Parts: sequence; structure tokens; C-alpha cells
Amino acid sequence: MGKVSMAFVLIIIIGAIVAIKTISFSGNPGMTIADSSAVPLSELMGEEHVWTAPDISTIPANAEGKLISYGRELVIHTSKYYGPKGIISKETNGLNCQNCHLDAGTRPYGNNLGSTFTTYPKYLPRAGHVVTVYEKVNECFLRSMNGSPIDTNSKEMSAFVAYIKWLGKDFNKGEKLAGSGGIKAPHFIDRAADPDKGKIVFEKLCARCHGSNGDGQFTADVLKDETKQQGGTATAEDLYYYPPVWGEHSFNGIATLYRMGKLAGFVKNNMPYPVNYNSSVLTDEQAWDVAAYINSRQRPVGDHSKDYLADISKKPYDFPFPPYADNLSEDQHKFGPYKGMASAQKAH
Ligand code: HEC
Ligand code: HEC
Repeated sequence: MGKVSMAFVLIIIIGAIVAIKTISFSGNPGMTIADSSAVPLSELMGEEHVWTAPDISTIPANAEGKLISYGRELVIHTSKYYGPKGIISKETNGLNCQNCHLDAGTRPYGNNLGSTFTTYPKYLPRAGHVVTVYEKVNECFLRSMNGSPIDTNSKEMSAFVAYIKWLGKDFNKGEKLAGSGGIKAPHFIDRAADPDKGKIVFEKLCARCHGSNGDGQFTADVLKDETKQQGGTATAEDLYYYPPVWGEHSFNGIATLYRMGKLAGFVKNNMPYPVNYNSSVLTDEQAWDVAAYINSRQRPVGDHSKDYLADISKKPYDFPFPPYADNLSEDQHKFGPYKGMASAQKAH
């Protein structure tokens, strides 16, 4: 059969199907496309289903609910409890968990903690063993907060985990929903990320909040001057209104944001505040370059000697410390170009 007659036959068949459907719908006036067994529109359109967090009004009014709310409070106002003037201990650099786990760990593509509870305990190549959710919280205390782990038997740790468990209550084990479950890197660019180009982006789009020196701004100063209040979630209880992005009070060199793909991915979908994944303004180039600028500034070091020790072939492409399973330079692992790197194949 020629191509033309084949197309003709197809049109007839499709036409017949449409006609039959129409007849059966008109034979049953109560029936609409929406309540038939029709595939949801989002699937037909190829859109992914994006996770949304449970409403806080559904936190139960019992002892467990109190613990969940306390966990949420700790995520939002961490510096009050663990910052340099912390009322529980003075563990950390003064960041709040929420500075990086946006909207109390609920924002789609904002490094949320929605799918966390159902995915732990899990084997993490960085640790080289199975890690519990408790240990994972402490990893952020050690790395992102440049502090030390808290007592896993404390009421506070139970509260963090109760909140994380509640956030993920609608996830089924192993289920993946768009917008949750780790930061995705922007598309790779053809060249290495460029700190000099990134500096220009930073000065233009980031410095007004995070400061030209990347050291952020204290809440006490910002609350005194309305012109500095350009959007953010901090209240008088928080140390920083705009958190530092480098320098001695920032996340340290073994924090996950020190990996380029993670920082660029976070920034692309969430900065300049208050953009989100739907209203993102940075190009992929700008996201990679500004991440290169931030991650080439000075920050606290950390001990990475035990990371990926079990198997260096599991090191992510952008882990900025050798040794590597390939022969590429430390510089290329840090800034790229990543296209074509064997360890980067899984990133997209
Ligand atoms: C209008 C103010 C504002 C602008 C402009 C802005 N940010 Fe932010 N940024 C914030 C606030 C506020 C937070 C913390 C969010 C929270 O706690 O809810 C934040 C958090 C961050 C964090 C994570 C926390 C940390 O300190 O490491 C990074 C990284 C970051 N911003 C990078 C950038 C970059 C890069 C740009 C420019 C492309 C930028 N920001 C522009 C306000 C801003
Ligand atoms: C400077 C930014 C930053 C701060 C502050 C921070 N985190 Fe994180 N956190 C991250 C990044 C980045 C990841 C890894 C995301 C990824 O794997 O893509 C992460 C991962 C996690 C995970 C594992 C999520 C998962 O599903 O695998 C937990 C749990 C967590 N953080 C809890 C906390 C808690 C609790 C605090 C406050 C005590 C905190 N974090 C503070 C950046 C931060």
C-alpha cells in the first residue's frame, strides 16, 4: 500500500473511533469526558505530577502533632535554637534549614523534604553504608550548617524526623513525584562554568540581598531599614535575613551545595528570591557561572577524607576533590565541561 492510501485508511479508522465515541457519549447525556475512564489531561499533555506538601492545618492535635510542629519550628528558625546564640546549643553557622529547604522543606524543586522519609534508610555512596534519616539530618548539621551532629536521642532530633515523616505521609515507598527528591542540575553547557562571568551575574542579581561579599545581612539590620526588606521569610527570631553564600558563616566545603550541579540547580529554580521553578529567570549559563563564582570564594573547609572512600567510581562528576576513577583533572570535575564525562551520564 502506498503512503497516501495508508494515511487515508488511518483517517477512516480514526474517524470511525471518534464517531463511535461521540455516539456513545450522546447516548448517555450524563457522561462527560472528565468522568469517563479518560486519561487525566496532565498525562495526555505529558506534564509530570508535581508534589505538593500536606496543609499544616492537618497536623494532628495530639502529642505527635506537637512534635511535628516543633520539628517545623526547628526547620524554620534553626538559628534561634542552634545558631551562635542558640538556646539549645551553639552548634552552627547561624543558617536555618529553611534557607536551603525552602518554605519549611515544602517547595517543589526547592530542595524539599517531601520524599525523604520513604527513601531512608538507604545506602549512600558518600558514606559507604546504609544511612538513616537521623544520620542524614546530622549530615546537614555537620556540612551545610558547618556544625556538629546533635544527639540522635534528643527531643529535637525526634521532632525533625516527626516533621519529615509527616511531610512525606502521602508518598508511597519508592514513589517518585516531580519536584521532590534531590536537586537536579541544569542542562550542561558546552564550556566550563566561568567564575568571572558568574561575578557579573552575582553583582547584578544577587548582591543586593546576599551582599557583594557574599556574607548576607543580619535580620537586626534589615528590620531597622525598610528599603533593605526585599522579600524573605526571616522574622526577628532569625539571625540572618539574607543568609551568607560564602565566607566563614556559610556552608562548608563538604556540603552538598559545594557541588556545582547542586548549587546551580538550586539557584536556577529558586533564585533570585522569590522565583520558583515556574518563574525561573536565570539561563543555564548564568546558573552554572554564578555557582562557579560562589563556589570559588573562600568558605570553611571540611574533612572529606572519608567521603566515597568505599568506592571512588561512585563519586559524582562534580565532587570537587580527587582521587577520581577517571583521568580528568580536579578542575574539570569542579567546573566542567561535564558533557561527555562518564560520571556525568546519570545526571540527566
Ligand atoms: C530578594 C533577595 C534575594 C536575592 C536577590 C537573591 N537571594 Fe538568595 N536567598 C534569599 C533568601 C531570603 C534566602 C533564604 C530563603 C529562606 O530562608 O526562605 C536565600 C537563599 C539562598 C541560598 C541558600 C542559602 C545559603 O545561604 O547558602 C543560595 C545559595 C542563594 N540564595 C543564592 C542566590 C543567588 C546565586 C542569587 C542571584 C542569582 C540570589 N540568591 C539572589 C534572598 C535573595
Ligand atoms: C546550606 C544549605 C542547607 C542547609 C542550611 C541545610 N541543608 Fe539539608 N540539604 C542540603 C542539600 C544541598 C541537600 C542534598 C540535596 C540533594 O541530594 O540533591 C540536603 C539534604 C538533606 C536531607 C536529605 C534529603 C533527602 O531526601 O535525601 C535532609 C533530611 C536534610 N537535608 C535536613 C536538613 C535539616 C534538618 C537542616 C537543618 C538542621 C538542613 N538540612 C540544613 C542543603 C542544606
